[in-house]
Amino acid sequence: MLVRLQPDIATTKAQKRLPLEDLFGAAVSPVWFEIGFGSGEHLIGLMRQHPEVYMIGAEPFINGMANFLQALAESKLPETHIRVWMEDAILLAERLPDQSLERIYVLNPDPWPKKRHHKRRIINQENLTTFARILKPGGLLVMSTDVADLADWMVTEASRHPDFNWTAQRADDWRIMPADWIPTRYESKGKAKGRQQIYLMFNRN
Ligand SMILES: C[S@@+](CC[C@H](N)C(=O)[O-])C[C@H]1O[C@@H](n2cnc3c(N)ncnc32)[C@H](O)[C@@H]1O
Repeated sequence: MLVRLQPDIATTKAQKRLPLEDLFGAAVSPVWFEIGFGSGEHLIGLMRQHPEVYMIGAEPFINGMANFLQALAESKLPETHIRVWMEDAILLAERLPDQSLERIYVLNPDPWPKKRHHKRRIINQENLTTFARILKPGGLLVMSTDVADLADWMVTEASRHPDFNWTAQRADDWRIMPADWIPTRYESKGKAKGRQQIYLMFNRN
């Protein structure tokens, strides 16, 4: 299943863009990209909620990918609407065409709490520039975390990036779970321990 659903980008030129037609076998739209999907329960939930959307999911952790592929097979959701990437999501993001996606999800990214490791955080200016390039104008970058320091970091990084605008108007917009939100296992565990989950939506301007 992984062989069918994962693009073989090693065989194409390193600098060349990978058209979505080559990924999905047909011209497709809309397309959403979930980065670091863990075991994929949010991604499966999105596929159920939005059967018209084409999804790309990246997760380098083999157990997570295996859990997702098993859940996908059991779900009977159509393989036509999903492609996966079991590597660093940024390698794939850098190959996607300009303005090709409507949404990017980065949920509970690794917090890298030590200051000297902050440069490893996936939300940084360089990766935001890549996300801005592949998102369509008006597209959405959705992020969440229950780590307060990481939430501050993500708000600061995305707010100071010239291509993104924070959609929040009031505190409840980032404090209260959106109505159609699909909580991940990680999020549910954190809430059971009393942690506050933060929900961040930024528009590609
Ligand atoms: C804390 S877990 C959260 C998983 C899931 N998003 C959730 O909310 O339950 C972070 C995930 O990001 C993945 N990850 C870390 N760096 C990544 C990268 N560069 N590209 C794609 N996934 C990455 C990890 O393997 C891990 O599964």
